[in-house]
Amino acid sequence: MTTISRRRLLQFVAASPLLAYAQVSGPSKLEEALDVFDFETIAKRTLPPAHFGYLATGTDDEATLRANREAFGHYQLRMRRLVNVTKLDLSVTLFGKTYDTPIALAPVGSLRAFSPEAEGGAARAAKVTRTLQMLSTTGSTAVEAVNEARGEPVWYQLYPTDDWNVARALVSRAQKAGCTVLVLTVDNVGNNRLTQQRLTRQDDRQCVSCHAMPGPRYFTARPMFAGLDLSRATRLSPLDMDWSMIDRLRDITTMKIVLKGIVTREDAEMAKARGVDGLVVSNHGGRSEDSGRASIDCLREVVQAAGGMPVLVDSGFRRGSDIFKALALGATAVCIGRPYVWGLAAFGQGGVEQVLTILRRELELVMRQAGTTSVSRIDEKYIVER
Ligand code: FNR
Repeated sequence: MTTISRRRLLQFVAASPLLAYAQVSGPSKLEEALDVFDFETIAKRTLPPAHFGYLATGTDDEATLRANREAFGHYQLRMRRLVNVTKLDLSVTLFGKTYDTPIALAPVGSLRAFSPEAEGGAARAAKVTRTLQMLSTTGSTAVEAVNEARGEPVWYQLYPTDDWNVARALVSRAQKAGCTVLVLTVDNVGNNRLTQQRLTRQDDRQCVSCHAMPGPRYFTARPMFAGLDLSRATRLSPLDMDWSMIDRLRDITTMKIVLKGIVTREDAEMAKARGVDGLVVSNHGGRSEDSGRASIDCLREVVQAAGGMPVLVDSGFRRGSDIFKALALGATAVCIGRPYVWGLAAFGQGGVEQVLTILRRELELVMRQAGTTSVSRIDEKYIVER
């Protein structure tokens, strides 16, 4: 290539709008974030590679992870006009408690990996925005402290381990702390998280202070396990867990029981027959199995079989319009995982608040555009499936 043509090429590239786009490394101030993805950009920039890998990873080829996003394109909105949309009611009531919006915080383990504020920061944001919060068994903060920061009991997510004595102790502690809803996660029987492993290899820091117990028994170092005899607990989710687990839990707690990870009509029917109180349609944010089936695509059949019990949904929700579509398909509420963790990683409590505010604003916009004034009135008439 001659000097002149090389110079022309460089001039062409420098003038390209694509380059201008590539140079944008995301906002650096909280108020500059336009949507939840802006917080992802900051989280990626600031988190150690291993921690970002833990957050971002799917499993195997990550087909489910991609499907979770792509599937929102299977549904389109039917807008109704000439409706007075001055006043909107976004509130939802779950097990007798009313929340400001149908957007909830999903249980995410080890939040201290993303911010020193950890679960407390998320809880304070949930308090300010009157948002439902679920706390992971593997959280970096114990349930009592999270409840205090939230100002009321959160929903407690249970990984029972393969030692029933440990399960019993966890459930009894959550109940004693005032929790009224137990969320049993049923979709974690093993996974192949390659992005996490690849990014961990890029990280050469010595992490023994937080990873005192490496390997599959890492959870034993988490605060909810403090003081328990863990000699027989080898994994978080027992491989022999079956439907009898619901009866066993019923025998030891008065908390409502919600199953997280249900994706089929058959399992929703089984849950109904066992007297389960609620369901979360979820594929763990594409982190469990690589079925390739999006969570939103599983929602309709689960709602139909659930016979009126509350059905929440998560995995891939990033826009107000995504949330609207789930509500139209019959979801009672929608949980977000990674988006609020991006917010937490970027700006602590304020970031979580802003993520919730942006999603609320986007949902309000779609509700007005669709001519819907309350969440309870959003139904299948407002969407079509392609
Ligand atoms: C999770 N999730 C999860 N679920 C659960 O029941 N117990 C847990 O401890 C965790 N931990 C966890 C850690 C991280 C880093 C992520 C990203 C997710 C799954 C979570 O509750 C939820 O199902 C998904 O995050 C929802 O998908 P999105 O919103 O992240 O796409």
